[in-house]
Amino acid sequence: TFSGVPEAPKDPILGLNELFREDPSPLKVNLGVGAYRTEENRPYVLGVVKRVEQELANNPNTLHEYLPIEGLPEFRSLSARLVFGERSPALKEQRVVSLQSLSGTGSLRLVAEFLSKFYQRGAVCYLPRPTWGNHWNIFPAAGIKCREYRYYSDETHEVDIIGLLDDLTAAPSGSIVLLHACAHNPTGADPSMTQWQEILDVIRKKQHFPLFDCAYQGFASGSFERDAAAVRLFERATVPASEADGARERPMEMAVTQSFAKNMGLYGERVGAAHIVCAAPAVTQAVLSQMKQIARGLYSSPPAHGATIAARILKDRALFAEWETEVHVMSSRILRMRRELFEALHENKTPGNWEHILSQIGMFSFLGLSAEQCLYLREKYHIYMTTNGRISMAGLTSDKVQYLADAIRDAVVR
Ligand code: LMR
Repeated sequence: TFSGVPEAPKDPILGLNELFREDPSPLKVNLGVGAYRTEENRPYVLGVVKRVEQELANNPNTLHEYLPIEGLPEFRSLSARLVFGERSPALKEQRVVSLQSLSGTGSLRLVAEFLSKFYQRGAVCYLPRPTWGNHWNIFPAAGIKCREYRYYSDETHEVDIIGLLDDLTAAPSGSIVLLHACAHNPTGADPSMTQWQEILDVIRKKQHFPLFDCAYQGFASGSFERDAAAVRLFERATVPASEADGARERPMEMAVTQSFAKNMGLYGERVGAAHIVCAAPAVTQAVLSQMKQIARGLYSSPPAHGATIAARILKDRALFAEWETEVHVMSSRILRMRRELFEALHENKTPGNWEHILSQIGMFSFLGLSAEQCLYLREKYHIYMTTNGRISMAGLTSDKVQYLADAIRDAVVR
């Protein structure tokens, strides 16, 4: 029987939705999960997505057949082009293996399973401290142990670049290093391009394996190009080759997982991709075949609807331009919320320096509140946020800013 099964704790992010739903208070505010809301506090279906959906509904050729295990061919190549760019050497040299997978989580799990089977036995995955909580579920589930590297300074509210470089230098050679491509979740603090170069130098020297989690392309700077700059810097890097290769340098191997949940607002459709950049085109067929075998055992084939929408938007210039404008509308509203919250905290004289709310980027703000303060906000004010002090700026609306600022003041001064 299952009488001995202990109850698992609620998920620290998605579990908040359950608590929020159960809370009868009319004052409640949900700043937990990173999901964009309009100024009217409604979920947002992008106009361009609606149009493509209508087109698909009216098209008699729309079927509900299985996709291939590796996903929709157009989606695979177009999503790779979005992240690696038009002039990507790896794409030009046909060194990238791309599979459509189940948004960010599914793509990460697929890569983790592949690394667990085919990368150096016993290699540890280094995660930034702090990181998205689900990273701690995904890698151990695939049999990969995780450790942390320093990432963020609570004092400066910036990337702790010295700690980060020290920790990656001290990590055993050949470790897997998880990096957030842009809009680091939860801190909203990204390395500068100079710092990315320093990180790359250590990774090359130590022959680590970089794995980029790319869930917010377009949300950090408003530009798909700029938000992919770190990925593209690494993709063009080379590492010393072994003598057997007969060359001095070879392209660096790496992986990228990509989610279209936030930037296309396709949260529930599970649209994403896993890309493995190989050192040579000759190995891609074998890598793809193994990735397919893993995907088959996990979920057989990915869902078709969302990927079909995404592929249409990525392919058509006019639809792409429309998408870009809508991403800009979303990121501008988030920026406005940052300013409004910062000003309200300034005006109500909440002790402390809150400038980081303005300097952080992406969907979240890492306020710097203790777990106890976060729980106080939940219990007294019905404000839901993760207990690491992260709020989803994308879930904040103007009519709630003053309430939130006054509640934060109370939590800070009491
Ligand atoms: C978040 O961090 O809130 C999002 O990435 C949603 C999730 O799945 O946790």
